[in-house]
Amino acid sequence: MSAERKMMRVLKGEAVFPPPLWMMRQAGRYLPEYRESRKQAGSFLDLCYNPDRAVEVTLQPIERFGFDASILFSDILVVPHALGRDLRFEEGRGPLMTPITAGEIDALDTGAFHVNLEPVYETVRRLRRQLPDETTLIGFCGAPWTVATYMIAGHGTPDQAPARLFAYREPEAFGKLLAVLADQSASYLIRQIEAGADTVQIFDSWSGVLDEPSFEAFCVEPVARIVRKVHEVHPGVPVIGFPKGAGANYSSYRRKTGVAGLGLDWSVPLSQAAELQKEGAVQGNLDPLRLVAGGRALSEGVSAILDKLKDGPFIFNLGHGIVPETPVAHVEAMVRLVRGEAGR
Ligand code: CP3
Repeated sequence: MSAERKMMRVLKGEAVFPPPLWMMRQAGRYLPEYRESRKQAGSFLDLCYNPDRAVEVTLQPIERFGFDASILFSDILVVPHALGRDLRFEEGRGPLMTPITAGEIDALDTGAFHVNLEPVYETVRRLRRQLPDETTLIGFCGAPWTVATYMIAGHGTPDQAPARLFAYREPEAFGKLLAVLADQSASYLIRQIEAGADTVQIFDSWSGVLDEPSFEAFCVEPVARIVRKVHEVHPGVPVIGFPKGAGANYSSYRRKTGVAGLGLDWSVPLSQAAELQKEGAVQGNLDPLRLVAGGRALSEGVSAILDKLKDGPFIFNLGHGIVPETPVAHVEAMVRLVRGEAGR
């Protein structure tokens, strides 16, 4: 490798301008070429487990927009799937699983875990060979709390009431579930790193529904356990944490978990983001709906973020995944705005 990849420099604490840029869910339904590949692959899970197809869709946004980072195409729910839980994705309904009961947690089968996930590792190996040398390759997993919410409810819910109730009523079983998920997720990330991922991101999309003690026990502790285990094997690999909706809990998250980079959702005030940036890299946090609207909503959103965060270690991203309704032309406009090619 020639020069160190831009996003990796930022994760080590360097301020780089223009900042490295990528988008959560950058390979997805807003892209016509993704919709075509998806049609040919069959189901969404077939796409995740088919290295030819998964590589193809991972590369699509890189080819189109030249992003600084590429995120492996997969899903956070392949982890429970590889532990023997059933999983399917229904059009318009998202993921569907059979809700796990307290008695079933001991029966989670770790025996075939890495065999089941081998197609993911193969995708990562091929990506590292096919990506431009300057492009950072990001591996990922879901945080134990967020993955557990889907395993317990069996589908998405607005406030994760089923998982919160389960956690309060069955604390021992729930603790066991988080521990199994943390250990398996750590070894999953280690394998992704060994297959060629430069960094890994832990998605905790539902950390915003918890009270403070639950946030500590269900989000901070399991993620700290994953980071510790990854660093025991690969001390130099930076981890990015994304505790979406964590609000005031963002402030101690980096210190308590050991993540190098902090993913910020769009509700994090830029003044708070600037404070968090004093301790390391921050990533975010454009409202994905500004990108849908385009025009002034987009340019003002991008400028506000750059003005406040450009002088420290910063990775430009959305505050959550890009939504399918987003016009491709607005993504092109965002890339020009961030890279300063918009006739400034
Ligand atoms: O970011 C990327 O481009 C990499 C791929 C990726 C996907 N899911 C692909 C996907 C990543 C990193 C994820 C993470 C993920 N998956 C999270 C955490 C981040 C977040 O969005 O909060 C969660 C909670 C899931 C679980 C999941 N997968 C849900 C709730 C859904 C349905 C919602 C939806 O957008 O349809 C999915 C499906 C999914 N995962 C799609 C994609 C591209 C859309 C499915 C399709 O193409 O039919």
